[in-house]
Amino acid sequence: MIYHIPWMYMPVRTVLAMWNQLTKTEIPELARSSVLMRERSRVEETLQAMQRAGTERLQVISDFDMTLTRFAHNGSRVPTTHNILDNRLLISEACTRKIRQLLNTYYPIEIDAGRTVEEKLPLMVKWWTSVHDLLIDQNIRKDMLSQAVRESNAMLRDGYKVFFDSLAERQVPLLIFSAGVGDVLEEVMRQKLVFHPNVHVISNYMDFDHTGVLRAFKGPLIHTFNKQEGSVQQVVHLKQLEGRPNVLLLGDSLGDLTMADGVTQPQNVLTVGFLNDQVEERKESYINAFDIVLVRDETLDVPNALLSYITSGK
Ligand code: TMP
Ligand code: MG
Repeated sequence: MIYHIPWMYMPVRTVLAMWNQLTKTEIPELARSSVLMRERSRVEETLQAMQRAGTERLQVISDFDMTLTRFAHNGSRVPTTHNILDNRLLISEACTRKIRQLLNTYYPIEIDAGRTVEEKLPLMVKWWTSVHDLLIDQNIRKDMLSQAVRESNAMLRDGYKVFFDSLAERQVPLLIFSAGVGDVLEEVMRQKLVFHPNVHVISNYMDFDHTGVLRAFKGPLIHTFNKQEGSVQQVVHLKQLEGRPNVLLLGDSLGDLTMADGVTQPQNVLTVGFLNDQVEERKESYINAFDIVLVRDETLDVPNALLSYITSGK
């Protein structure tokens, strides 16, 4: 019996090693120096499980501003959906000044690694409501929005076409969960020809009166740190998301991590965080919070590679 033990275990080990080799996820993009992972083995296991489950079990949940859009281009900041509204067609110079002042006050708070979410919450509500009130005072016309988007420097990340088109082709739902302005981000996607039928949006939508003038914002306010609320009610009603317990989540803020909270019985959730700004100060918290962190990466190469791997199974 004793003589048999090594023979019994040797092949098992060999088989395991061969199996590991066979199942090792080969995604060269994950070897880039901009990619940080707390636990590579967990990432690989999750990816393998998602691949085995197949494309029809997958959904993608993504933030919009600074996640699907670029953070900067040629050294200048790319506008967020709120900042796209900074156009004389829509708002006055005085209003622009006030919105910029608010941005200068509150954006550093939003990304401050030294403050807790609890501290930030009331300040984010203050920021968003102040900006929305200023916008409502401007009598913004709905029919001017598309021109303002066209004249803006809005930019989706490099690789966006592959990202949107391949998800649409494979009929994988893409839920965009944004604290930006829904009407604006829809128009950005429309102009880039990527607002496909598999794309669903939860965001702050403008409420126009019968003459097409902005009078209010619809529904409960969404800001950076309350993305779990609202989702629960809205997501469960989306038929297309049913039976898709595997989630690829993309965000640029720690607040984006709760975007998948409304998913019923999630099985595998892989989170990717773009770390755009204040890199050294926030690196540790991002590595602890997201499965994959992308440092100053202006492309969608890594999400595209992950999706290509997950959907190549069957
Ligand atoms: P997101 O949820 O799609 O990323 O959109 C929220 C971002 O918008 C958040 O990071 C802060 C930014 N923002 C502005 O740039 N200007 C504003 O006036 C407001 C209220 C938010
Ligand atoms: Mg964002």
